[in-house]
Amino acid sequence: MAKKSTASRPRIPTHVAIIMDGNGRWALARGLPRLVGHRAGTENLRRIITACVEFGVKYLTIYAFSTENWGRPREEVEGLMNILEDVIDRELAELNKEGVQLRHIGRLERLDPKLQEKVMEAIELTKHNDRLVLSVAFNYGGRDEIVFAIQKMIKDGIKPDEVSSDMVSHYLFTAGVPDPDLIIRTSGELRVSNFLIWQGAYSEWYVTSVYWPDFNKGEFRKALDTYGQRDRRYGGLTEMDGGKDYNAG
Ligand code: FPP
Repeated sequence: MAKKSTASRPRIPTHVAIIMDGNGRWALARGLPRLVGHRAGTENLRRIITACVEFGVKYLTIYAFSTENWGRPREEVEGLMNILEDVIDRELAELNKEGVQLRHIGRLERLDPKLQEKVMEAIELTKHNDRLVLSVAFNYGGRDEIVFAIQKMIKDGIKPDEVSSDMVSHYLFTAGVPDPDLIIRTSGELRVSNFLIWQGAYSEWYVTSVYWPDFNKGEFRKALDTYGQRDRRYGGLTEMDGGKDYNAG
């Protein structure tokens, strides 16, 4: 009997992370203000959340506002804050009904206190849901996350030789969430942009030129299908490469 391949080729990724890029260019191409692009991107996000539930993706992480986005014009920054508030106001009940657990990664403290409270309430309300864990990266930066983790480890009195890769993961905002299997970036840019730089060490990437507001369920399915064709080697070898004893875990 042929030996079963040990290469890891799951059809559906457990954790998908998305850099939702191209809202501004989508709007510009239509002669519309950038914020209209962000609103269209938000509507698309809603569709992709539903698609995740349908396709069996268990974790979705979205890059909604980076630590660098504070440098955008005041109107756009305020607009993105308003979008976060609107999403909670309008969608929370439905998301809760669909079994979506909301999490936040990043720093809440720079946000308006009322918005911070809304985010905390949404997290509390949905904390027992388990159909999809939706992590919203808002005021998030990968380097900031690692610096913050190191500060916490030092404050906790962790000794140098106690520090391990698992411990660092445990101190990140994403503690308890598996590393992303697939990272999608829309609008064609070939950059990591400070997103999940620790957690994405062995993620598969899918980059498409489609702008985020147009990245519909069909485009998402294409990304998942492409992922399903990949052999994940984690720096090792598969049987096909002659590494028959390779354990993909
Ligand atoms: C990047 O496109 C997108 C962002 C900085 C914001 C993404 C936010 C959303 C889709 C809204 C969802 C938000 C929440 C809070 C749920 P860009 O503006 O850099 O596009 P460009 O590169 O074409 O200018």
